[in-house]
Amino acid sequence: MPDTTLTTLQGLKQNGEKIAMLTCYDATFAQAACQAGVDVLLVGDSLGNVLQGHDSTLPVSLADMAYHTASVKRGNQGAFIISDLPFMAYATLEQTFASSAALMQAGAHMVKLEGAAWLAEPVRLLAERGVPVCAHLGLTPQSVNLFGGYKVQGRQEVQARQLRADAMALEQAGAAMLLLECVPSALAAEISQSVKIPVIGIGAGVDTDGQVLVLHDMLGLSLSGRAPKFVKNFMEGQSSIQAAIGAYVSAVKQRTFPGSEHGFTA
Ligand code: KIV
Repeated sequence: MPDTTLTTLQGLKQNGEKIAMLTCYDATFAQAACQAGVDVLLVGDSLGNVLQGHDSTLPVSLADMAYHTASVKRGNQGAFIISDLPFMAYATLEQTFASSAALMQAGAHMVKLEGAAWLAEPVRLLAERGVPVCAHLGLTPQSVNLFGGYKVQGRQEVQARQLRADAMALEQAGAAMLLLECVPSALAAEISQSVKIPVIGIGAGVDTDGQVLVLHDMLGLSLSGRAPKFVKNFMEGQSSIQAAIGAYVSAVKQRTFPGSEHGFTA
């Protein structure tokens, strides 16, 4: 068992303490992130962008995710590990079970999938079978072609209402965590207060229960040379990667990151 469990994370929410999550794809960074105090390592399918150089997460395979999850597990020193189910690896219930089993057997403690209330049935069935699930809502990068780009979600009231309903439906179905990406800060705060499970934000303001950033982004590394608005370069003013990750953890815990300049309005 990791030192940080689902119970630890639920306790942090109940006590009003922030959760520091960071993406991670290999053993060395897993060790460094743990030593810097990161609570949760997310083996994100963002590895398709930052490791593989694709312009989306769609080309990432289940084998890629299992390989990187196993690598992170080997360097982990007590953090809770979440692993992304990649594009089309949960298109049917049978696929969802097989893909989740592959990631849990590679070392994940929870799987994350992208979608909305339609995920209620797979979430319920996974939870009944012992697999904790994080549901990723808002800007879900696997649907970039449907969205027509990487756009803030939930700005119009009709979208906001749908997001609130999706969050409630997924909690009721048994999701153990929600992740909100690029939604207005006020809406993310409201959703975080309305559910009992931890809500992690990226581009969702300071009032979620925790924060996540892509490792390469917060280290100031970018293939395109343009960082999204919600990113802060924590390498600035630091002399080592370890110190930069430590500064990120402190900023999340002390609520000094994200600032209002990193968030979105309706
Ligand atoms: O794949 C990923 O890294 C993610 C984060 C952007 C939240 O899902």
